[in-house]
Amino acid sequence: MLPIICLSFFLIIFLCWKPLRKRSNYPPGCDGMPFLGCLPLLGVHPANTIMKWSKRYGDVFYVKYAMQNVIMLNSFESIKEALVKQGHVFSGRQHTFITEFTSGNAGLGFLDYGAVWRSQRRFGLATLHEFGMGRRCMAPKILEEADLMCDEMLKHGDHAFDCMDHITPAVTNIISILVFGKRFEYDDPTLLDTLHLLFDFGHDFPFALFYFAPLVRFLPPWKAELEKIRQARKPVWDHIMSAIQQHQDTYNENDCRDFIDSFIAKMKSTNADGVKFAWWNKEQLFHYVKELFLAGTDTTATTLRWAILLIHYHTDVHEKIHEEIDREASNPVKFEDMPNMPYTQAVIQEVFRSRPIANFGTMRKTTAVGKVGGYRIPKGSIVMPNIWAVHHNPQRWKNPHLFKPDRHIDQNGKFVKSEDIIPFNVGQRSCLGMQLAKMEIFIFLVRMMQRFNF
Ligand code: HEM
Repeated sequence: MLPIICLSFFLIIFLCWKPLRKRSNYPPGCDGMPFLGCLPLLGVHPANTIMKWSKRYGDVFYVKYAMQNVIMLNSFESIKEALVKQGHVFSGRQHTFITEFTSGNAGLGFLDYGAVWRSQRRFGLATLHEFGMGRRCMAPKILEEADLMCDEMLKHGDHAFDCMDHITPAVTNIISILVFGKRFEYDDPTLLDTLHLLFDFGHDFPFALFYFAPLVRFLPPWKAELEKIRQARKPVWDHIMSAIQQHQDTYNENDCRDFIDSFIAKMKSTNADGVKFAWWNKEQLFHYVKELFLAGTDTTATTLRWAILLIHYHTDVHEKIHEEIDREASNPVKFEDMPNMPYTQAVIQEVFRSRPIANFGTMRKTTAVGKVGGYRIPKGSIVMPNIWAVHHNPQRWKNPHLFKPDRHIDQNGKFVKSEDIIPFNVGQRSCLGMQLAKMEIFIFLVRMMQRFNF
C-alpha cells in the first residue's frame, strides 16, 4: 500500500509542477531530459545556444542543468534589473561539494551574501586599490614584468612558440607581487607548480559539471581527476601557508609590504581586544590568497591571448593601433597614456565585447524573493547572466560576430565607453580585480606592440 501512495504522491507533484509554477509567475523555460536536463542540448557553445533559445522564451527563462533550474538573464536590462537594482537579493552564492573543494567556502568569491562577505569585500577593494591604483601603484611593476616577458619571448628568435607559455607566468607574477610582495624567476619551482595547478588543471576544469551533478565525483574518471588535483595543489598550498607564516614572523606595522601584510594588520586590529573574530584569521587569509591567483591569472592571460590573436588576424586594426602607439604612447608606455589613446581603448573594449572570458559570470543565488522582467524569482534560485548574449545582441551591435574596434569611436574620434559591455559582470558582486586587470591588459598589450610586430 505504502509504495502506491508514495508513487501517486510523486505523480501528482510531477503533473502539477509546471501549472503550479506558471500560476506563481515563475519564468518559462526548458526542462530537457530526465536527470540530465538540458545538458546534452547545450552543444559546444552553451552561451550561444542559450542566446538562441531566448528568441523562444524571452530574456528571462530557466534552463534545467541536470536536476537544477537555473534562471538565465539574457539582456543587459534584465541583468541590471536583477544584479544592480536588487543587488541585495541577487548576490548570494550556493555552497556545493565543488565550492567546498575549491575554496573551503571561504575566501571571497564563494562566500554567501551577508555581513562576512561585505567586510571581506570592503577589505579586498581597499587593499587592491592601495596596491593597484593608489599610492603604491602597480603600473611600474607591471611594465617591468612585461619587459622581462618580452625578453623571454625574444629568446625564441625566428622560431614559432605559444605566447601563452610566457603570458601566464608573467600575469601570475603580478598577483604574486600583489600578494607576496615579490616576483618569481620564470624557472622557479614554486612558480612552475603554481602554473601547473592553475593552467594544466584549472583551465579546462568542468566546474559546472561538479556544481550541477555533484555525484559524478564518485565515478572513476572524475574521482581520479580530483585526486590528481589534490596532489598537484599540495606544494602550492604549502608554499602559500609558509609565505603567510614568514610574513607573520617578519611583520612590521610601519611597513605594510603587500596584501598578506594588510590582512595581518586587519587581523591584529580586529582581534586586538582579545575577542577572536571568526573571519579574520590565518585560514581565511590562506583561502583569500589562493583565490586571487585562481580569479586573477587565467582570466587576464586569456584576454591578452585573444587580443593578440584578434589584432594579428585584422591587419587594418594592427596598423591603426601600431600607428597610435607610436604617436601617442611614451616609450616605455605609462598607464597615464591611456586617455590619449582612443583607438587602443576601443581595441581593448572590442576584445572584451567579442570574447568575454566568463560568458556566464559566476553563479548567483537569490537570498530573498526577487522580481525580473515581471517574473517572480523564488528565494534560493540559481541565477546566471548570459554576458555573451548581451555582447552579441544584434539589435545593439551591427554584425556582432565581427571584430570592429571602430564601433567604439565616435565621429569626433573619441573613445565611447559602453556600460553594457560587462566582462567583469555588474553589481555589488562584480569582479574585485577589474581595475588591476584593465591596467595589466593595457600595459602588457602596448608594451608587446612597442617591442614586436605580431
Ligand atoms: C580580464 C580579467 C578578468 C575578468 C574578465 C574577470 C571576470 C570576473 C567575473 C565575471 C567575476 C564574477 C562576478 C560576479 O559574480 O558577478 C569575477 C569575480 C571575481 N574576480 Fe575577476 N576577472 C578578471 C580579473 C581578476 C583579477 C586580476 C582579480 C584579482 C586580482 C580578480 C578577482 C576576482 C574576485 C576575488 C572575484 C570574486 C568577487 C566576489 O565574489 O565578491 N579578477 N571576475
